[in-house]
Amino acid sequence: MDKILINLLRQFNPETAHNISIKLLKHAPILIKAYKDKSLELDIAGLKFANPIGMAAGFDKNAEVFNSLAKIGFGFVECGTVTPKPQFGNPKPRVFRYIEDEAIINRLGFNNKGVNNFLSNLVNRNNFYSPLGINIGPNKDSKNFVDDYINLINHVYEYADYITINISSPNTENLRKLQNKNELEELIKSIVSSIKDKDKQKPIFIKINPDENIESYKDIIDLVNKYSIAGLVISNTTIQRDRNLTNEMQNETGGLSGKPLFNQANKILELIYRETQGSIILIGVGGVSSGHDAYQKIKLGASLVQLYSAFAFQGPSLINRINKELVQLVKKDGFNSISEAIGSGV
Ligand SMILES: Cc1cc2nc3c(=O)[nH]c(=O)nc-3n(C[C@H](O)[C@H](O)[C@H](O)COP(=O)(O)O)c2cc1C
Repeated sequence: MDKILINLLRQFNPETAHNISIKLLKHAPILIKAYKDKSLELDIAGLKFANPIGMAAGFDKNAEVFNSLAKIGFGFVECGTVTPKPQFGNPKPRVFRYIEDEAIINRLGFNNKGVNNFLSNLVNRNNFYSPLGINIGPNKDSKNFVDDYINLINHVYEYADYITINISSPNTENLRKLQNKNELEELIKSIVSSIKDKDKQKPIFIKINPDENIESYKDIIDLVNKYSIAGLVISNTTIQRDRNLTNEMQNETGGLSGKPLFNQANKILELIYRETQGSIILIGVGGVSSGHDAYQKIKLGASLVQLYSAFAFQGPSLINRINKELVQLVKKDGFNSISEAIGSGV
């Protein structure tokens, strides 16, 4: 079934194929039943997860299909990136698919329908029981990025189980500068003060890029500790291009995801886990396409794992496959539960 679907979608350019997938998930009957196993259940940041595999941000940008994604087996879904105003993004074509390499390059630039539309879709939240993350980012033409984040937090706070601050997309000019120590401290201070009087304290994550130097990651860790941020999402797409990649890929600008990102994102994950030793929550993302890959991230310190690109290449049955494989790997290592495996490889 997946093979037929994938071959059909490959007839279209990647962005159209994505839009068709969203329509199918929204309107077609969901024939897959989520695989469940007790050993995959987790309690992280006060939230209950049926399994550690989440849909990464960027797939469900407008919060249209989070229910369907949970039905096909995802343990959680991160919607967005949503910006305050609707935004077209960069000129098309802006998504490039490399089937042989199981890689994607995108320079979408936060195309989305804006936060009001996003919130109108969240009324369907009532019957959604899996944790829902909301990933937020500023508009391209914003006069003040920090104001955009605070405005978004105030809008989405009551609907989110956790919020991810996206400061790592390579496709919005100057966004990654927010990862610099001074800028990041200003941003985090504003965020912390904007939520301190809310009734319920919800976990805030910061999604970082995989292209910085070690010192910069250490600065981020210091600030996350100083201001009690729940954790980090590691990582967004990379702007680096491995020399082994095809010429085509070397030349296309944008963020690279999928298989070629796996080792690079894992290096940063491991580095940050070594520095933090479980004091903050790490969500591992980048290049996961099997249960084995997901397990590797968990052993390197990820409490939760996300994926996007492999879903586009392998289709919806991938999630149950990954979860079944995880159950076997947990057993093989003699653990009773996936949570015992977190960081066990470091
Ligand atoms: C087409 C596309 C669009 C994306 N859009 C977003 C986005 O809006 N916000 C975000 O934080 N990450 C976005 N990402 C990055 C993913 O969330 C993820 O961090 C990255 O793709 C690495 O995971 P993967 O190798 O499993 O795809 C996007 C990725 C792709 C491929």
